Amino acid sequence: MQKLSIHGGVPLSGEVRVAGAKNAALPILAASLLSAAPLRVANVPNLNDVRTMIELLKRMGVKAKVQPHAVELDASSVDEPVAPYELVKTMRASILALGPLTARFGEARVSLPGGCAIGERPVDLHIKGLEAMGAKIAIEAGYIHATAKRLQGARIFMDTVTVTGTENLMMAACLAQGETVLENAAREPEVVDLARCLIAMGARIRGEGTDVIVIEGVHKLHGAEHAVMPDRIEAGTFLAAAAATRGHVRLAEAPVASLDAVIDKLREAGATVKTAARSIEISMRGRPRAVGLRTAPYPGFPTDMQAQFIALNCVAEGTAFVTETIFENRFMHVQELRRLGAHIEVEGNTAMVQGIESLAGATVMATDLRASASLVIAALVATGETVVDRIYHLDRGYEKIEARLAELGARIARVS
Ligand code: UD1
Repeated sequence: MQKLSIHGGVPLSGEVRVAGAKNAALPILAASLLSAAPLRVANVPNLNDVRTMIELLKRMGVKAKVQPHAVELDASSVDEPVAPYELVKTMRASILALGPLTARFGEARVSLPGGCAIGERPVDLHIKGLEAMGAKIAIEAGYIHATAKRLQGARIFMDTVTVTGTENLMMAACLAQGETVLENAAREPEVVDLARCLIAMGARIRGEGTDVIVIEGVHKLHGAEHAVMPDRIEAGTFLAAAAATRGHVRLAEAPVASLDAVIDKLREAGATVKTAARSIEISMRGRPRAVGLRTAPYPGFPTDMQAQFIALNCVAEGTAFVTETIFENRFMHVQELRRLGAHIEVEGNTAMVQGIESLAGATVMATDLRASASLVIAALVATGETVVDRIYHLDRGYEKIEARLAELGARIARVS
């Protein structure tokens, strides 16, 4: 199993280009199922989850031409509208096939995602929404079996803001008969990026980026080309790493407008952050100040940045309270950070982080994608060597992370 060996203590310095967004690429790849004409997707990050999604589509019969950072998908002959357990268990986002398959083929069998490291994560709202659009849903042998003639437009209220739930229903609604209104929809930039791709394919969507999305169904979608937006969580992770190491980093191709909540907190921590149209420059002189935060759906502070900010707070001056409101079990990184000497107490959904001068290297284990990012940040500031084990979690969301951090001066190596 691969590990990262990191010798901390070097302030990150230099420029890094932000990769395409994983969480936009996954639904956009799934959207290829909605049309018989080819969809060409550019700025696709080279990540395990992206490869899993392409593998999933290929098993259904989709033809995929994969190039570096681009893929052309041809779903003209899908013969197996199934997302099998063995792939869904490695990537929950496989659920994104459910809406498109049901809408275009009138049938889908998608394995129910089980529990995962960060909590229960049900998919009841995906199912309820499709039922409201007239699909019949049965749960058989661990699979969601959806059948429908043609989906019917509906008014759907989601009582919890769900990102992939909104994406699934928005995709399904594109081919439904009549108008669908999604209320309390997710406003995440990745939902907007998916909507842009669907619109390029001929879908009639308005309100994306607000909490009411209206979709006027059409008979079919056509081919299109779409470039995936840059990854705001990857960008935020580099910014947090730069701040924690007291470095000076410039991000190129950054999704600047989608990072307001994160940049605001970095400034509160004492960083100087300058933004231009597509770049962000951060410099941190001296020790960061502790910053309290509460995760919330967009435009609130992203849950996918919570772990990285706990790492930053570990070495900050003062005490910070970090409250997680989206997932019930998303503090798995805390016990690992403690192994590096961090002072963190968790009570309910709040972590109290008491900043200390420095962390000390140890062996730690990644438990999920963003938890592993927080361990890397902590390792970059710790004295001595830190070994981060189980970095396949990290590889799900960060492309060539060790090479890119090394370019910023980090002493980091991948070891077997
Ligand atoms: C997506 C992101 C993930 C991010 C999360 C929250 C992708 C591929 N993943 O995950 O990185 O951490 O948004 O920003 O885009 N819920 C229900 N019923 C449902 C669906 C969700 O109760 O049917 C609850 C969840 O348990 C959770 C909350 O809604 O408490 C938000 O989850 P959701 O937005 O659906 O997360 P994902 O779309 O799985």
